[in-house]
Amino acid sequence: MSKKLSVLILDDETDFAQELQEYLQLRNFEVYTAATPGDGFASMRRRPYDLLILDVRLPGMSGIDILKQVRKLYPSMEVIIISGHGDIDTVIEALREGAIDYLRKPFRHIDIQLAIERTEKYLRMYHQFKEMENRNSLISSELERLIDRNFIGESHAIKQVLDLASTASRYNNTNVLITGESGTGKEIIARIIHYASDQKHNPFVPVNSSAVTDSLLESEFFGHVKGSFTGAIADKRGYFEVANGGTLFLDEIADMPFALQAKLLRAIEEKKIKRVGGTDEIQVDFRIISATNHDVEHLIKNKLFRLDLFHRLNTITINIPPLRERPEDIEPLLKYFISYFAERLKKPVPKINAQLVEALTRYDFSGNVRELRNMIERAMIFCNTSTLSTIDFQLLSTNKPGSNAPVALNLEEQEQNLILHALNECGYNQILTAKMLGISRDSLIRRMKKYNIKVVREQV
Ligand SMILES: Nc1ncnc2c1ncn2[C@@H]1O[C@H](COP(=O)(O)OP(=O)(O)OP(=O)(O)O)[C@@H](O)[C@H]1O
Ligand SMILES: [Mg+2]
Repeated sequence: MSKKLSVLILDDETDFAQELQEYLQLRNFEVYTAATPGDGFASMRRRPYDLLILDVRLPGMSGIDILKQVRKLYPSMEVIIISGHGDIDTVIEALREGAIDYLRKPFRHIDIQLAIERTEKYLRMYHQFKEMENRNSLISSELERLIDRNFIGESHAIKQVLDLASTASRYNNTNVLITGESGTGKEIIARIIHYASDQKHNPFVPVNSSAVTDSLLESEFFGHVKGSFTGAIADKRGYFEVANGGTLFLDEIADMPFALQAKLLRAIEEKKIKRVGGTDEIQVDFRIISATNHDVEHLIKNKLFRLDLFHRLNTITINIPPLRERPEDIEPLLKYFISYFAERLKKPVPKINAQLVEALTRYDFSGNVRELRNMIERAMIFCNTSTLSTIDFQLLSTNKPGSNAPVALNLEEQEQNLILHALNECGYNQILTAKMLGISRDSLIRRMKKYNIKVVREQV
C-alpha cells in the first residue's frame, strides 16, 4: 500500500470532473473519469480501482443503485459520494450502503484531497489488518498440526534422526535436507525442527513444489504487484515474504522445475527478492527445510537438479530409514497409534496379541509409517473384540513376498484368529459361526470366553 491510490471519478459534469482529475494527478494520484454509469461500469470492468468518486445525481440511474452494485461487484473498492444541496437523505442512505465519506457540492479541492487521504489511511490499516489475519490463520492451522508432532521410535536410527533434528533446531540459519521414502515422517521432522527453534513464533510455510502450476510458479514464490499480469488484481506476497523470519518447507524438491531452481538459489544467496512486475527490492530471511524421496544425486547426474542449489540446501542432511529396516519401532508405533485412535474413535484401548507384533515386524511396509498408521486406524474401526489380532489387520495374504514363515504357528493363536474370522464372515451370528466352524454353539461360546472375544453387534 505504498503506491498512490487509483481513482475513478464518475460525474456527468465533465468540466468539474476534468478539473478535479488534473488537481489530483498533480498530487500523484492515478485518476480516470467517466461521464455516464455505462462508461463507469465499463471502466471498472477493464481495471481495478481503489476508489470511486461518485456523483449521486447522474442521468439514467440513481446514485444509490450504482453504489449498491459496485459494493457488490467490487467489495474492495471504496466509494466517496458527491451530493448537491438538499440531498441529505441520499447521503445518509449512501453511508448506510457502505460509502466511506461524502462531500457536498460546491467543495474546495483541498476537501476532496483530505477525504482521499483519509480513505488511503483507512485502506492501509485495513490491509495491515488483513495481513495480520492471514498470519494468524496460518499460525492457528499450524497449532492444530502441533498436536500431531509426536515422533515415535526406539531404534538407534530414529534416535539419531531426533538428535540431528535437535541440533538443526538450534542453528536457525542452517538449511536442512530430509531424505527418506514416502511415509517415513519427513514432514513431521521438518515441523519439529521449526517448532523447537527460536523461530517458532514465525511462520512455517509448507510448499509442495510439484503442486504449483508452472505459469504461476514465479509469482507464488516471489509475489507480484497489482496489474503485473492478467488476474493480478491486488499486490500479493509470495512464499519468500510469507516465510520471512521463519521456515520455508520445500516438499519434494525433485519436482521443482529447473528454471525455478536458479531463481531460488539467487534468492537464498542474496536474501533479497523482487515481486513479479515490481521494482523494489525486498529483504527476506528464512530457513529452508527441504524434503525428497528421490535420489537427488542421481537427478544431479542427469542434469535435472542443480548441484549448486543442492549444496545450498543440504548443510545438514537427515535420512529417515524405511520402517522395514527398523523393526524395533513397530511395537512402540503400534501402541502409540492404538491409543491415539482409541481416543479419537472413543473406543477402549484393546490388548495386542504377541503374534500381531511379530507378523507386523515381518511385513514389508512399502508405505512406511503412513501405511502402518492407516492399517491401525482401519483395524481399530472394525475391531469388536478386546484384543487386536492379525485378523483385524488382514495381514495373512499381504505378507512380505519371499518370507514364507507361517504367520502363526501357535495353535491357540490360530484358533482365536479362525473364530474371529468366522464371526466376521457370519455377521457375528453365533449359530451360523458355529456351523461354519463345525462345532456346537456352546463350544463356540466357551472358546469365545476363553479368548475374551466379545461380540458387540450380535445379529440373531
Ligand atoms: N516416527 C513417527 N511417529 C509417529 N508418526 C509418524 C512417524 N513417522 C511418520 N508418522 C506419520 O506418518 C504419516 C506420514 O508422515 P509424513 O507426512 O511426515 O511423511 P513424509 O515422509 O513426508 O511422506 P511423503 O514423502 O509421502 O510426503 C503422518 O501421519 C505422520 O504423522
Ligand atoms: Mg511429505
